[in-house]
Amino acid sequence: MPSLYAPGSLNSVAELEVANIRQILALTDRLEAMPAQERASLLKNRRIALLFYESSTRTRTSFELAAKSLGATTTLVSDKSSSIEKGESLKDTGLTLRALGAECIVLRHPASGAPFLLARTTGLPVLNAGDGMAQHPSQALLDLRTIVQRLGLAGRTVDEHLLQGITVAITGDIRHSRVARSNAMLLPKLGAKVLLCGPPELLPEEAATLGQGIELVRDFEAALAGAQVAMMLRIQSERLAGLKLDRAGYIERFQLTEERLRRLAPCAVVLHPGPMIRGLEIEGEVADGPQSAIEDQVRNGLAVRTALLVRALLPDGTALVHGTSNEQTAQPR
Ligand code: NCD
Repeated sequence: MPSLYAPGSLNSVAELEVANIRQILALTDRLEAMPAQERASLLKNRRIALLFYESSTRTRTSFELAAKSLGATTTLVSDKSSSIEKGESLKDTGLTLRALGAECIVLRHPASGAPFLLARTTGLPVLNAGDGMAQHPSQALLDLRTIVQRLGLAGRTVDEHLLQGITVAITGDIRHSRVARSNAMLLPKLGAKVLLCGPPELLPEEAATLGQGIELVRDFEAALAGAQVAMMLRIQSERLAGLKLDRAGYIERFQLTEERLRRLAPCAVVLHPGPMIRGLEIEGEVADGPQSAIEDQVRNGLAVRTALLVRALLPDGTALVHGTSNEQTAQPR
């Protein structure tokens, strides 16, 4: 789908065709293998603004470190210490950053759709670092890279069959999760089946309509038994808006425990986007155990975001990928 926004923007997983996903993963590999000095010259002195209206540890830090590893200058603007606190609109903040020389904006915002508005008003490439309950595209891409690595698929062609036969169970607070939404839209593009699991309060029936290859399963043990990948999600208490959840009942039915993992999915890869609430959705032993790929996810976050920044700021960035044919580099971004 040709984008209405600056090339290199990534507002939603919906913008990504299989060819784009292939390019991003290939660019990630290429940049990771590149000597640090060479990498640091790619975006030398380019200006990247990190505009964060919600708290973040992994996403913000990895975008910032990624930008720095490419030689770029970064500036962090957060709602806590800027004119946003005085009521400045997203549009005016964006225009101010552009007037100050920002060439790309990484945005996290509580309102779904905010990155589209920012991309439209500034004309700059915008990278969505999480908008409300809508999208978190870089998280889905880093989850994909982690799944591919941990399932031993790294040498395979990235096409619509790459994840054929793979079932990913996403369990927890799906209702409020942009991570779940982005993954449920991304992984089936490569052939994966996605099972969404949780109680009705956190997983409405409509979630099944997110796309093809998605199924709702209420019984966590059944979901786990059929999955090669178990992605656990935090209950987003800050978005519950008065909803009371029976914590003990939730733990009883949905917690990923060592015992459940051993009995039902002894080979599954365990993922969690963080922040993790140990003892609630996941047992600490599982998070630290051999099946956990949670630290790989963090490392892949840095790698994938490095590629997204290059894609946003170097029009011929994909030409960096060795062996990329002209046909592939000519694909719309
Ligand atoms: C998630 C987010 O902010 O959407 N975290 C992340 O980016 N790694 C998930 C969450 O907040 O629970």
